[in-house]
Amino acid sequence: MHPSPDNRSPIKSKIFLIGFMGSGKTHWARLLSSAYQLSYADLDDVIEKEYNQKIATIFKEKGEAYFREIEAKVLRSFSEEQNCIIACGGGTACYHDNMQWMNENGITVYLQDSPAVLAKRLLKEKSHRPVLMNIPDNELESFIAGKLTERESFYKQAKIIVDEETLTVQQLADTIFNT
Ligand code: S3P
Repeated sequence: MHPSPDNRSPIKSKIFLIGFMGSGKTHWARLLSSAYQLSYADLDDVIEKEYNQKIATIFKEKGEAYFREIEAKVLRSFSEEQNCIIACGGGTACYHDNMQWMNENGITVYLQDSPAVLAKRLLKEKSHRPVLMNIPDNELESFIAGKLTERESFYKQAKIIVDEETLTVQQLADTIFNT
């Protein structure tokens, strides 16, 4: 790991990590933020704090359309932030022109994984994820494959696309900071 020569964060911008549920957005955001003195935020956590409710409860009580509205609003509340890494939700890139907004306001990074890898990681975690909780275990991988096909036209608008499964923090940092 090599910090920038003057040991400060090498960017003045925002980095948005996007990708499917289970692609490690929060994990990589944490690693990068501690290695490069960037502040870090997890969009779902900010929404839960601001609205004082779990994401699953918001989905259940107010519906997905409402969640997507507040998600877009909370995302834009970062417009003035600098030196910041934001772990988005799995659907953030796909609604309310968020992808365009993120591309205009920072560096977007798509953490790409195969449906098989995602299904394996998500199998034990799907109960608290509203998009997956009603999908039977034996249909999870094919559901993810379908959803990924729908969403990739958004994810692939990212400025940077990395293979998440083989990624190292060094490689991620080099790719971002040389962009
Ligand atoms: C969603 C992913 C979740 C969360 C919400 C909807 C999605 O975020 O925003 O449950 O539509 O893919 P994670 O990717 O952090 O689990």
